[in-house]
Formats: sequence, structure tokens, C-alpha cells
Amino acid sequence: TEPPYHIPLRMMGTSDLELGWKDISLSSKLLGAGNFGEVRKGTVKIDGDRIQSAIKVLKRGADEESKDEFQQEVDIMRHVGFHPNIINLLGVCNHKGQQYMALELATNGDLLKYLRKSRVHVTEKPYANMRPEVQTASTLSPVLLLRIAGDVASGMEHLAAKDVIHRDLAARNVLLTDRLIAKVADFGLSRGEGIYEQKSRKAIPFRSTAIEALSTKIYTTKSDVWSFGILLWEIVTLGGTPYSGMKSRLLMRGLHEGYRLPKPRNCEDALYVDFSQLNDNLLILH
Ligand code: ADE
Repeated sequence: TEPPYHIPLRMMGTSDLELGWKDISLSSKLLGAGNFGEVRKGTVKIDGDRIQSAIKVLKRGADEESKDEFQQEVDIMRHVGFHPNIINLLGVCNHKGQQYMALELATNGDLLKYLRKSRVHVTEKPYANMRPEVQTASTLSPVLLLRIAGDVASGMEHLAAKDVIHRDLAARNVLLTDRLIAKVADFGLSRGEGIYEQKSRKAIPFRSTAIEALSTKIYTTKSDVWSFGILLWEIVTLGGTPYSGMKSRLLMRGLHEGYRLPKPRNCEDALYVDFSQLNDNLLILH
């Protein structure tokens, strides 16, 4: 039988992951774009095997900041090393002054869209004289959803063990493979190790950022754990928007007053911890 996960041998060792230009083939299928350049679907040849890949291309005229970010991303991915629940680096290539980063391809796209796509509306009418009630259900089983949550936890545990802080963990930054293995993506954009003080003016994903990171700009593995909690909420609500309708100011004030996401209707009691009941314990953290 096929192994559950194919790991190219070179990714297990101390290889520098350099790829020859002839081993890369780019397709016309665009997976994403940014001011750094673009991400294209393609294949890379590793140890004689052709492997499907998402290839990030740094555009030729990129500014210094984009070049630095691209190099940082490669460095962090090299430092993190292989794990089945992260988007792994397959290789890098520099050809005619253009830089390429080959990443594992996750053909089922991001978790947020996948959850939303899975929604089905079922009409319940237990008695003939009752008004029908429309409920939202999912084509995905609770076992699969919980497995995906476990996958993300494993990937994040690995990042934490390597002292890498993600800073933007959310369902939209988790990708799903053809076998629906969940992989944490975009952690290469998180800078450095240990505590990181954000200095840039990039928009902060305030709905999934920890209360202390919002107010102090200091991110830690523990603030990633907060984001993981929000991600669990996104899974249970099949891609709902946390604190929907609340603007960032109001949310910040609410959080400081002890307000937390309530337990979604369909959420198992065992999966929800009511932190408002644990406030005395949390106070020692401040
Ligand atoms: N878009 C960006 N990165 C991707 C990846 N690794 N797999 C699929 N789509 C992507």
C-alpha cells in the first residue's frame, strides 16, 4: 500500500534544498499574488520524482523590503524543518536573477473557504403543525473537523518547539491537501524567534489576535494559542466571523471587560472552556 505521506528523502536531511532551473516547471495557473510577485502552480523534480508544487516567484523589480521578506521566509522555513502539518519548503532556485520558492501544494485550498463551502441548509419540521426551522449543517463529519483541528495543533506545536511565532493563525491560513491533511501556511512571514514586537504598520487581524498582543504588540507562542482557540471557533461555526459586527475598538474594550466568544450552539460542551469562569486564575498572568 501507499505510504500515508510521501516525504522526499532530501527534506529529511541537511540538504540546502537548492533546485536546478531544469527541475522546475511552472504552469499558467495562478494561485495567488502580492506585491512581492506571485504564486503559481507547478512541479519540481526531487530525487527523480515530479512533485506538485506551489511556486512563489519574487518579481524581478521587487523592492528591498520584498526581497528581505522573501529571504526571511526561506530562512525561517529552513530553520523550522519538515513537519507533516505545515506547508513544507520543497526547494529554492535562483535563475537569471529571479528567485523561486517551491512549496508543497495543498490542492483543497484554504480551510475557511472549505468550511463555508461545506455548509448545507436543512429544514427541520418535526410536527406537521410546526413552522419549519432552517438549520445549518455540514457535509463534513465531526470526526474530520476534529482531525483537522488536531492537525493544526500538531503543526503549531512544531512551530512552537522551533521558537517560531505565527502571529496570523486563522482558518484562511490553513491549507488542505488532496487527502484533507491540514497544513499551517504562511508562518514564514512571522519574523524571528521568541517574542516579537511588531513595528510595521500592516493591518492587525484583530479578531484572532490575543488580548495582550493587541494592547502591547508583543507576540508569543501563547498569543498563537489564543488564535488557535479562535480557529476552533471558526471550525465549529463552519467558517463564521468571530465577534461578527463588532469593530476593533468595541472588541478591545469588550475583551478587557472579560467578554469572550460564547459557545456556539452546535459546540460540544467538552470543546468549550468558559474562561469567564477562570478569571481568578488568569489574573496571575498580568
Ligand atoms: N496558495 C498559496 N500557497 C499555496 C499552496 N501551498 N497550495 C495551494 N495553494 C496555495
